[in-house]
Amino acid sequence: MCGIVAYKGQKDCFPILLDGLKKLEYRGYDSAGVACLVNNKIDITKRAGKVKELERAIAGKKSSKNCNGLGIAHTRWATHGEPNQKNAHPHSDESKKITLVHNGIIENYDPIKKFLRSKKIKFKSDTDTEVLVQLIGYFYNKGMLSFEQSVRAALQRVDGAYGIVILNTDFPDMMIAARKGSPLVVGIKDGEFFIGSDVSPIVKHTQKIIYLNDSEMAVIDGTNYEIKSVDKDVSLPKKVEKIDYKIDDFDKGKFKYFMHKEIHEQVTTIHNTLKGRSTKSSVLLHGLSEYWEEIKAAEKIYITACGTSWHAGLIGKNLIERFAEVPVHVEYASEFRYNHSIMDNKTIVIAISQSGETADTLAAISKANDFGAITIGICNVAGSSVSRETNCGIHTRCGHEIGVASTKAFTSQISILYLFALKLADSRKRITKTDMKKHLEMISDVHQKDIKSVLKKEKSIKKMAKKYQNASDFLYLGRGLNFPVALEGALKLKEISYIHAEGYPAAEMKHGPIALVDKNMPNVFIVPKDKTYDKIISNIEEIKSRKGKIIIVTDSKDKILRDLSDDLILLPKTNQYMFVMLATIALQLFSYFIAVAKGCDVDQPRNLAKSVTVE
Ligand code: G6P
Repeated sequence: MCGIVAYKGQKDCFPILLDGLKKLEYRGYDSAGVACLVNNKIDITKRAGKVKELERAIAGKKSSKNCNGLGIAHTRWATHGEPNQKNAHPHSDESKKITLVHNGIIENYDPIKKFLRSKKIKFKSDTDTEVLVQLIGYFYNKGMLSFEQSVRAALQRVDGAYGIVILNTDFPDMMIAARKGSPLVVGIKDGEFFIGSDVSPIVKHTQKIIYLNDSEMAVIDGTNYEIKSVDKDVSLPKKVEKIDYKIDDFDKGKFKYFMHKEIHEQVTTIHNTLKGRSTKSSVLLHGLSEYWEEIKAAEKIYITACGTSWHAGLIGKNLIERFAEVPVHVEYASEFRYNHSIMDNKTIVIAISQSGETADTLAAISKANDFGAITIGICNVAGSSVSRETNCGIHTRCGHEIGVASTKAFTSQISILYLFALKLADSRKRITKTDMKKHLEMISDVHQKDIKSVLKKEKSIKKMAKKYQNASDFLYLGRGLNFPVALEGALKLKEISYIHAEGYPAAEMKHGPIALVDKNMPNVFIVPKDKTYDKIISNIEEIKSRKGKIIIVTDSKDKILRDLSDDLILLPKTNQYMFVMLATIALQLFSYFIAVAKGCDVDQPRNLAKSVTVE
């Protein structure tokens, strides 16, 4: 799971490739590497760690001055083999003629490696990728097949997923790219070619894009190119799309970390998500219009996603079932893709993804499409694979999210799900005009002042965070709409501070997790003043009597909560839907300050990637 960028043209490769890698670092930052053609030899530079390490190494190289025209680059999230320099891409075959970068996993690498070893081929790395490049080299160096035929022969023998770009020193004017399962995009501009695992490293240079489909390859030779099939030597039509997409250079502004900036941005991002999507009496979701007749007649809805987006899905289930009375199943995309889900053309599958590139979510969409279900994407990145592979969809419009731990995307996803639930309820006549109006009034008054007032509590939240920074385990507990908030609070803490945390339904905690509670264990309770209030008070008492530390996030000023709590975050009084957002933001800040206090790399936590592009 990694990012690929490649360039073929007349310019110096390094600035283009390094800039592209920085845009792709959200896909992994275990190592980075570049291979360029210099004087008809492959010049490779790789470093363990982030792109800035590679940048430093390249700055010190002479070859960086004369590397014109042909280069491939890669940022890695380790799957096979440790995240060190040896395993960093690009990888070459034994003859050093053929070099490639790869995104995906070669599942049958082991038997192929054994076969190649039996032919006395030696391996330098522990990666599945090296097996693929050695296999291409094996076919090519036998002298029977052309470069292109060797690539095809190797790809026909591998199982799993790949997006690859390959160079061959015998063909200094040629570059081959191919994909199966891992997206790859080709940008075209007057004799120059840019290849990326998504459009982010390309759009700065050209808006003319070809999205490669599975089992397609792009063969670039000089200033010409052909799209061909991986399965047989036939040309395929070139479908050049003009995209209207801009990526700004990323700027942290006055903040030390992107995550902190993105938490603060929620004052406007939630508003931007909702803006123009409703009138006083109805919800407008134009992205769904074409399929609305089918959507409104749905007998069943699946929501599928990963990580934080999956938590948004749980809130979506609550809202859709509550308002529209359609049964909703929420499944991890990694499970959904292999489960025996029962779907047909009366089933709606909603895929939620910030990045739109998560491999499991894409596989789930593909499965739903095969079953004839109507697929809806709720996605933040226009032009991403999720946007393109679903039948219809809604963009969350919250701007680029760079911190690996998702924050503003989550509250925007919930906002969209809220709108969707209301629209569906309205079309199915499950909500009165008066109730609909009330909800839409709430939406139009997006409570920016309430979000601001939570953000103003930063100082006290920071103080609290310092107090708990050395805890080794946390429990996060909530009920109803706030159970997913508890899950998300626990996930945020785990991701960025490496403290073990579990989210649980507040009452279910009695069935196991309570055994963990002792005087050192902080328990975060999310307690809105709603119909679950009294029940949660009982759950708090149960923990309190076992001497657990109690942290309460609430909108109630009741004395009992102050008496029961060791620490309390008081949120402004709003409504139960807005409470979910405000509690989430408070918990994001809490995790953030704990991670900062512990000296963690908040924006790029260890072992994680912003978008998980392998299974
Ligand atoms: C990774 C990220 C999470 C994110 C999840 C799903 O695990 O670290 O923050 O929630 O992927 O990503 P998506 O882009 O599909 O929402």
